[in-house]
Amino acid sequence: MKNIILMGPPGAGKGTNAKRIASHYGIPHISTGDMFREAIKNKTPLGELANKYISQGLLVPDDVTIGLVKERISLDDCKNGFLLDGFPRSLPQAEALTSIGEEISRPIKYVINIVVPESILVDRISGRRVCKTCGAPYHIRNMKPKVEGICDLCGGELVQRKDDNEETLKARLHEYHKMTEPLISYYKNLGVVYDVDGTKDLDELSKDIAKILGE
Ligand code: AP5
Ligand code: MG
Repeated sequence: MKNIILMGPPGAGKGTNAKRIASHYGIPHISTGDMFREAIKNKTPLGELANKYISQGLLVPDDVTIGLVKERISLDDCKNGFLLDGFPRSLPQAEALTSIGEEISRPIKYVINIVVPESILVDRISGRRVCKTCGAPYHIRNMKPKVEGICDLCGGELVQRKDDNEETLKARLHEYHKMTEPLISYYKNLGVVYDVDGTKDLDELSKDIAKILGE
């Protein structure tokens, strides 16, 4: 059972690597950030609530996020595995995920921790562009689309995420160090953490991750 968490600071490459891993193993890519952005786009009550926090670089309250993920990983398409990107992000979220995993017999087997120094993160975030339609990430230098401003996958327009500005990034990094980084120790105690070097070229990184996850 490939029940996986991709962990790492903002800009580490969670979304980029998640798309590759999920399609390789045929498991759903579950990004709480993407779920919130979709809700914001559709102007749902969840979106309105999430936007208040996301726009300031703060975490959306645990009860909201936990409920969302519980419902999602209980679905039938997660029975052979799932890939969580951006969840859990706080100790209560991690503890809730452990009990949900026990309850539905879908425990976490791998935590892939993408390690990238802070100086690189700032460049990645400021140069990132995302598809307005499907959310696929690009970079103005490192990962250019085939046609400038257009998504290779769906032809959508590439835009900058609203929270990808210097001030909000500072808050996101602060939240990461305070709330999320301690989870690495939580999962090390469970013996499921695998560090990978997120500064490597994407193909090399995919090979490193495949070695950890196996066939
Ligand atoms: P979320 O959407 O999860 O954002 P994040 O954690 O800040 O991470 P990013 O999406 O910015 O970075 P990434 O690691 O996915 O990097 P990417 O692959 O794009 O969350 C957004 C907000 O939602 C949070 O701030 C919070 O408010 C809320 N939220 C979400 N989940 C929550 C939760 N569980 N609880 C509470 N609140 C929650 O890559 C970055 C750039 O680098 C791209 O341009 C890419 O092309 C480039 N790149 C990637 N890898 C490489 C490489 N190996 N070499 C060269 N370039 C690379
Ligand atoms: Mg992401």
